[in-house]
Amino acid sequence: MTGKLDGKVALITGAGSGMGRAASLLFAQEGAKVAAVDWVEETSKETAEMIKQAGGDAISITADVSRWEDIDNAVKTTVEKFGKLDIMVNNAGVFDGFKPLLDVDEALWDKIINTNLKGYFYGCKRAVQQFLAQGKGGVILNTASVAGTGAMAGGTAYTVSKHGVVGLTKQVACEYASANIRVNAVCPGGVVTGMTKDLFKDPKIEQMVKQLSPMGRAAQPEELAKGMLYIVSDDASFVTGSLLTIDGGWRAK
Ligand SMILES: NC(=O)c1ccc[n+]([C@@H]2O[C@H](COP(=O)([O-])OP(=O)(O)OC[C@H]3O[C@@H](n4cnc5c(N)ncnc54)[C@H](O)[C@@H]3O)[C@@H](O)[C@H]2O)c1
Repeated sequence: MTGKLDGKVALITGAGSGMGRAASLLFAQEGAKVAAVDWVEETSKETAEMIKQAGGDAISITADVSRWEDIDNAVKTTVEKFGKLDIMVNNAGVFDGFKPLLDVDEALWDKIINTNLKGYFYGCKRAVQQFLAQGKGGVILNTASVAGTGAMAGGTAYTVSKHGVVGLTKQVACEYASANIRVNAVCPGGVVTGMTKDLFKDPKIEQMVKQLSPMGRAAQPEELAKGMLYIVSDDASFVTGSLLTIDGGWRAK
């Protein structure tokens, strides 16, 4: 059986949990060799192990995406192991607990922006360098959010970071389209992951997310991974600079 990502090499950040793990498992099932990157060593190892147990090929790499040296090393290690990079998924992220402007201090601002925005800038830049060196193009997928296309799906810092990711996605897509590099973002609504599972224990927040989504529920990470697979596969060969919203109708209202 042929997979949609046969022969491809994918590096996925935030691969130790939630959507990053779900995408890693699905991409591997579709034939990709996967570099599972996370700053939590144990969880990225677990993801790589799950892939290998299922008959796929994977390595785990420990990296903090907000550090250029770590991103650089992650790409180098992936290329050393698998010979190339075809797909970069910038997905690692942290949440701000819906903190409004006056509750945002510099430490929280830096924490959110450094991972959610600077980390994606580093990821895009390093992947484009690699794709240009290889000379055959490539694909970047950034996990943005419904917080990247409107207000009140996060606090101030998170919303700013995700709007930044949307701008980064569109800009880099246009800058490198002629080099056959596609750059897109996925915009999830509420998804049950490591990031949200404690939040959703708060009945007020769970209720809020249910009300925001006309479908009346949060998604499972696997439902997002399927959309992510579409964007990185050749099925999306004419898709660049786009946002794929997967939110149960949240932003349609
Ligand atoms: N869960 C949601 O409802 C939701 C909605 C919209 C967007 N998102 C976005 O989806 C992405 C994935 O989040 P998730 O919901 O799967 O959360 P998650 O917490 O389950 O997974 C995020 C992973 O990123 C890793 N990580 C965090 N900071 C890192 C860093 N600096 N360097 C390396 N790894 C780091 C964490 O260790 C974790 O394994 C994030 O960008 C998040 O903002 C989530």
